[in-house]
Amino acid sequence: MTKTKTYAPSEDFVAKAHIDAAKYEEMYAASVENPEAFWTEHAKRIDWIEPFKTVKNVSFAHPDVSIKWFEEGQLNVSVNCIDRHLETRGDQTAIIWEPDNPDDEALHITYRELHEKVCRMANVLLSQGIMRGDRVVIYLPMIPEAAYAMLACARIGAIHSIVFAGFSPDALANRINDSGAKAVITADTAPRGGKRTALKSNTDAALLHCSDKVRCLVVKHTGDQTTWIDDRDVDVKAMMQQVGPDCPPRPMGAEDPLFVLYTSGSTGKPKGVVHSSGGYLVWAAMTHEYVFDYHEGDIYWCAADVGWVTGHSYIVYGPLANGATTLMFEGVPTYPDASRFWQTIEKHKVNQFYTAPTALRALMGQGNDFVTKSDLSSLKVLGTVGEPINPEAWNWYNDIVGKGNCPIVDTWWQTETGGHLLTPLPGAIATKPGSATLPFFGVQPVILDPQTGEEITTNPAEGVLCMKDSWPGQMRTVYGDHERFVKTYFSDYKGYYFSGDGCRRDEDGYYWITGRVDDVINVSGHRMGTAEVESALVAHAKVSEAAVVGYPHEVKGQGIYCYVTLMNGQEPSEDLRKELRDWVRKEIGPIASPDLIQWAPGLPKTRSGKIMRRILRKIAENDYGALGDTSTLAEPAVVDDLIENRMNRS
Ligand code: WT7
Repeated sequence: MTKTKTYAPSEDFVAKAHIDAAKYEEMYAASVENPEAFWTEHAKRIDWIEPFKTVKNVSFAHPDVSIKWFEEGQLNVSVNCIDRHLETRGDQTAIIWEPDNPDDEALHITYRELHEKVCRMANVLLSQGIMRGDRVVIYLPMIPEAAYAMLACARIGAIHSIVFAGFSPDALANRINDSGAKAVITADTAPRGGKRTALKSNTDAALLHCSDKVRCLVVKHTGDQTTWIDDRDVDVKAMMQQVGPDCPPRPMGAEDPLFVLYTSGSTGKPKGVVHSSGGYLVWAAMTHEYVFDYHEGDIYWCAADVGWVTGHSYIVYGPLANGATTLMFEGVPTYPDASRFWQTIEKHKVNQFYTAPTALRALMGQGNDFVTKSDLSSLKVLGTVGEPINPEAWNWYNDIVGKGNCPIVDTWWQTETGGHLLTPLPGAIATKPGSATLPFFGVQPVILDPQTGEEITTNPAEGVLCMKDSWPGQMRTVYGDHERFVKTYFSDYKGYYFSGDGCRRDEDGYYWITGRVDDVINVSGHRMGTAEVESALVAHAKVSEAAVVGYPHEVKGQGIYCYVTLMNGQEPSEDLRKELRDWVRKEIGPIASPDLIQWAPGLPKTRSGKIMRRILRKIAENDYGALGDTSTLAEPAVVDDLIENRMNRS
């Protein structure tokens, strides 16, 4: 293998950085040699109402997995993100809100204003009977009220569960029901890229499938007309004016859940990933500071959505716990044109910028003028997340956006991990395009041989990526289904946390994620369970069977490839293709929209009736030469037919 070029930070950068190479080595060693002492020290970055007594109480042993950090400690997350900053930075901007339309005015919300808004929102929740431990679903676009709602829940000890505003009414209803939410907070309509999503009417449709006790709190954001059900719907902004501007924070246990966030897995139903209050906040705050090398006064922008974990940890909780100024962007990278990111960086003098490879690939294709016409001299660190970044996109980010002056942090993590696990620290670790480099403090990655489950201790190594021990930000359980938690993450490789990702470790010990090894695909940095798309397809009256796989897609990383067998008597047609696409969008949401549909008279199955996805993946990738072992196929002719008719896809 040819040696990849490495990029070391400049001397100037290193001199100013929180962590340099020597400090990284020293702190990493301390974090794994004596985690108790290390985390006792670093948990001090947050304010505790009651000190914790036990740092770590963890067992990965199947089937009694139990993960607890900072037991007996008490804290309030909203106090850590707001109140404790009031004395020193009450007038500093906490949140810069950049609206969808750049001609509309951006908002600068100070920590003092944030305090008042969050208290008022918390009082609104209390007025609706929401209590400690109750679940509140948040179905909001990227508006400040989304952050207020999260922090208001944290203030009173309610557990929020955000549903991405691009999800369908059905997906919303499932999450409201699975979490047993008492209320849903939504908005009238949501502008995005100049178009509007009808969130309130989606919520109305969802609530038809939920208990009629669920309250509906509506933020009138655009003022667009919506239906209104007097006994159920609450005008949040009006109500916030009526309640008091102060709300005493509720002391919470370190292990009390802060939020549930649903994510796709390899089986049908999305899992409610449960995160803690204490460990999660320590992790989000510490990684935010060190991975982005955030310094006092910096303007930081994570261009994700609060509907994903990235938005939780790196728009809201991490930055605000650190007293940072965090930018919240309502729009999309290509509206009004492909310069929007860069114009926004210039406008607000952004110092750290964090986005997904899919956005970079899309923008890269628009030409460099959009970038070079903007003044990006404020930038210091660039980050990526969500999927492996291809070297072309990495180089473009480095050369054109960063002008060779900004370290790139390729952060590998998951909804389950709460925050970064494998990532460069920009002043400490030289980067290689496409590698998430080395573990963060306290993280002990291992590569296991997928067949034997043995640890591979030499380099280079390739296998499945697992973690040997816990870190404070780790998820604690699947909401309402601890058994599923154990089964999904701790039973294939006993004694380890199994990430679901394949990984290579090179001769320098750097980690390179190779992608999912399960039936999860990564579409534009968002996780999609192929089983979810399949069950949406077969729910259509004209479909008898469906198999869904990922295939390489230039912009999205992976696209959604669907093999569809129709009911007897149904004829394939372009109209039906469109109908099925619309159907899946309606069932799950636009992010699940099939990219390619191939009509399949039959699907390749084993004699016991299992669909052989391996073969379907190969056909989708146009890789027929290497179909592998086909001897277990019940009807080999089915495969020939699929290959022959592969052009019958679009
Ligand atoms: C999966 C987790 C973490 C927040 C966004 C996605 C893939 C994530 C990287 C990266 C290569 C990555 C993995 C992982 N992934 N970051 N830097 N390099 N792959 O969170 O929806 O929970 O998805 O995204 O496959 O398992 P998620």
